[in-house]
Amino acid sequence: MSTIAPPRNVQVHDLFPSPVWMTELEDFDDHNRRMLEYLEELRARDQGLKRSNVLGWHSPDNLQTVDEFQPLRREVLALIENDVSSLLRLDTDRYEYHIDSMWAMHNGKHAYNFVHRHPGCIYSGVYYLQCAENAGSLNFHDPRADVRMLRPPALEEVSYTYHIVRYAPVRSRLVVFPAWLPHDVGPNLSDTARVAVSFNVVHRPRGSGTSAPQSGMR
Ligand SMILES: [Fe+2]
Repeated sequence: MSTIAPPRNVQVHDLFPSPVWMTELEDFDDHNRRMLEYLEELRARDQGLKRSNVLGWHSPDNLQTVDEFQPLRREVLALIENDVSSLLRLDTDRYEYHIDSMWAMHNGKHAYNFVHRHPGCIYSGVYYLQCAENAGSLNFHDPRADVRMLRPPALEEVSYTYHIVRYAPVRSRLVVFPAWLPHDVGPNLSDTARVAVSFNVVHRPRGSGTSAPQSGMR
C-alpha cells in the first residue's frame, strides 16, 4: 500500500465502453421446441454454410423469414428499439432496425467457432435453444489491440483490465452486442449438441424498406 497522500477530488471517466445486453426470454418453451424441430428437419436435408464454424453445422442465414422464428425476431427488435436505443440515445424517430440475417449453429461435441466479428451490420446477437454444461462459452475479446502491449501485474482482473470475458450459454438467454466486438465460441465438451440462433441487425430510414448490403464473417 502506498504511503503517498492521495490527491483530492479525483474523477474517473469510463471512455469507450463496450455494452453487451442480456435477457432471458420468458414463456419461450413452445417457441424453443418449434425452432428446434424446424432446425432438425433442415439439418437433415441441408449441408449448411461454412463461416466461423469448425465441425459444427451452420444453417442458411434467412431464418428471420421463417414462421417458427418470428417470436424470436420480435423479441430481438424490441430489445434493440427499447433497451439498446435508450442507452445509446439512438434516433428511432427517423431510423428503424431490422434483422438482415439470422442463422443457427449446431455444435456437436468438440465443435467451436474461431474469433470473428460481424462486418456490415451494427448489432449482432445469439439466442440459446439447447445447451448443456460445458457446451462452449461465448468469449468476448477486448477490441482495443493497443492495451495488450503492456499489462501490469494485478491482484485480480477487473472490467478495466480483463481482455477476455467468457459467458456460459444458458437456455432461453438472448445476448446482443456491437457487431464489431470480436468473439469466439469455445469447444462443446458436453455430449449434448449446443444449438444457438444468431442474427445481424441493421438500420434504415423509417419506411424506406432498404438498408446497407450485408457481407462478412460470422
Ligand atoms: Fe459471431
